[in-house]
Amino acid sequence: MTPPAHVAIIMDGNGRWAKARGLPRLAGHKAGVEALRKTVRAASAQGIRWLTVYAFSSENWSRPKSEVSDLMGLLKLFIRRDLAELHQNGVRVRIVGDRVGLKPDIAALLDEAETLTAGNVAINLVIAFNYGSRDEIVRAVRKIAEQAVAGQIAPNEISAETFAAALDTSDIPDPDLVIRTSGEMRLSNFLLWQAAYSEFVFMPCYWPDFTSEHLAEALEQFAARERRFGGLAARGVAS
Ligand code: IPE
Ligand code: IPE
Ligand code: MG
Repeated sequence: MTPPAHVAIIMDGNGRWAKARGLPRLAGHKAGVEALRKTVRAASAQGIRWLTVYAFSSENWSRPKSEVSDLMGLLKLFIRRDLAELHQNGVRVRIVGDRVGLKPDIAALLDEAETLTAGNVAINLVIAFNYGSRDEIVRAVRKIAEQAVAGQIAPNEISAETFAAALDTSDIPDPDLVIRTSGEMRLSNFLLWQAAYSEFVFMPCYWPDFTSEHLAEALEQFAARERRFGGLAARGVAS
């Protein structure tokens, strides 16, 4: 079974995981980081080339200040603690999302992670941080409008390809499979453009409980899907 080239995960349910145990939400987020560590290893072992994870959305700023600051702290801790090991394991780290809205120390850490690992080829780990698709699309439209005003691009030269090239994900293939944990069945502003033809697997488990078995189960479901991209099924074409 060839695995999908690009798996994207909406890591959801940290808060409910903690609540079910009578723990503060922060404990759920910490357990979520541990699940992320294991998932990067499992995805790499499965031969997945691209793993994108939704870590903090542009709407997550609306949470209580203390939780936002806990999540920022965990990102910093994750990069400081794990970057060396990720690098050793050949992981190339990329960040998508609006970096302008981030504090300078966090933006610097994200830059460092990308620069240090730029030459790695084992697996690409794309972290969606301060990411929201609508925000990404609006920033892309602004970029293209500025190019148009400067006379660098004519309106009739704008195509799906030139538009995709203006997104944060410009040199990243579209996800083949999107997994969301915690039982919610929505995108929550994740990869709206890029997931146009992705397959979706929704799993009831909370993110901190996600294991290599859950990943294997999602890959199995993906393998049983028939992707058509608006055309006819491979079977249909042959007959
Ligand atoms: C996902 O878990 C992590 C982030 C959104 C940062 P949640 O914090 O959304 O957990 P629930 O959905 O409240 O259980
Ligand atoms: C999506 O989860 C964002 C991340 C996993 C980072 P949310 O928990 O923020 O989504 P909603 O609010 O349930 O739609
Ligand atoms: Mg949630």
